[in-house]
Amino acid sequence: MKCSSVCVVGIFLAAQFRLLSGATISEAESLHVKLFLNYNKNIRPIYNQSLAMYVGIVLYIKSIQEFDEVTEKFSFVAALQLHWHDYRMMWDTSDYGGLDQITVSYDDVWIPELTLSSPSAKAAALGKSSDIVRLTNEGYAQWMPANLIESTCSVDVRNYPFDTQSCTTSFSSLGYKNNEVNLVALIPTIGFNVFSPNAMWDVVGSEVKTLLLGSGGESEILFTLNIKRKSAFVVINVLIPILVLGLLNILVFVLVPESGERIGFCITTLLAIAVYMTIVNDMLPRTSEPVPLISYKLMIDMVLSALIVLVTILNLRLYHKDDTSPVPNWIKSVYRLLSCAPCRSRKVSKDEVTYFKSRILSISNGGVRTNAKGKERTTEFVGDQKSKQSDAPINAEEFPVTWKQVSYMVDWLALALFTMTSLTSFLVFIAIAKSG
Ligand SMILES: *[C@@H]1O[C@H](CO)[C@@H](O)[C@H](O)[C@H]1NC(C)=O
Repeated sequence: MKCSSVCVVGIFLAAQFRLLSGATISEAESLHVKLFLNYNKNIRPIYNQSLAMYVGIVLYIKSIQEFDEVTEKFSFVAALQLHWHDYRMMWDTSDYGGLDQITVSYDDVWIPELTLSSPSAKAAALGKSSDIVRLTNEGYAQWMPANLIESTCSVDVRNYPFDTQSCTTSFSSLGYKNNEVNLVALIPTIGFNVFSPNAMWDVVGSEVKTLLLGSGGESEILFTLNIKRKSAFVVINVLIPILVLGLLNILVFVLVPESGERIGFCITTLLAIAVYMTIVNDMLPRTSEPVPLISYKLMIDMVLSALIVLVTILNLRLYHKDDTSPVPNWIKSVYRLLSCAPCRSRKVSKDEVTYFKSRILSISNGGVRTNAKGKERTTEFVGDQKSKQSDAPINAEEFPVTWKQVSYMVDWLALALFTMTSLTSFLVFIAIAKSG
């Protein structure tokens, strides 16, 4: 037998009706008339009015809508499921054709009104007049207000971007004291049956707690959601570039001083780091309690970069320093120590001899040639002549160290030192932030 779409809908509807009951519309109407006769929705639906009503609550989160670290706003789409017992809403199903549950409008019955007590915008009661309340013949009522809930969340970005946030959303029974309406958590966690994963946050846990604000206070229920940031975005867009910039910055010591680009290069990287500092600061709240570790990390990078500029400038002075002013002995000995002159002196001494001989020759040629030009050359020439005479058998202790060599030594020292510092600060930052 062929079945059109209208027929399919018909079968579906028939199945729905069969599932409900065999009651007719007149039976349902007479039930409504019976239930709402003398029904006052302002009175708590408990027979002994000196007892508290218990309202069971489950929070189902559909999706995390927004988490703003700067404004500390946390919003999510959620449905609250509230269960309570209304003793006036009971009937014998056999009197109404087996009708065992009905739905009524939110406006018609007593409702355990809830207010968001941690709102980020204006506080509003949860329900809206289009909500319906489901009632069973045993008097059990269920109401499911669904809404976009905009709550505040105190943000702790110390370990950004490896941070875990714990956001607590609280609801309280509006106007009722806790000896009148008592909120009870039906399950110990938030419900995630309908949760759709978020692109920026992983849910790592949840907790529900009820709070009695003293006797005669309001009953409050707290839903805590623990979310962990998916850090890949920040790692790729901020951390890796910062590391690369830091290492690139150090390459200034490899750049040849003659190029005249050293200062420009390291100032540019300094500025790039400052730009990243601005970007990261825009992502984070301006809190000092606690200061995000990444701010310290960027500050250290900035200071390192400034130190690199300083070392570069001073080192350029060394590089261009005139060799007529003698290199102090302690620098010479440091240089010899670092270049390991004593340990290779024996091996290299012959090379050194030829090197210095050729050097002296070239200088003296140059000196002779430029003799007439200026006094500096002459003095250099004389100085070299002297050293040639006195140090005829060149020994390792006495071989001359020029300012250029000192400058190269400082370059290599700074290269090693800053690479180590830069890598260490990066690794220490990752380790501390990741360890929580
Ligand atoms: C109502 O409850 C209170 C407290 O348990 C009790 O003292 C009182 O007798 C109850 N009243 C009725 C009518 O049951």
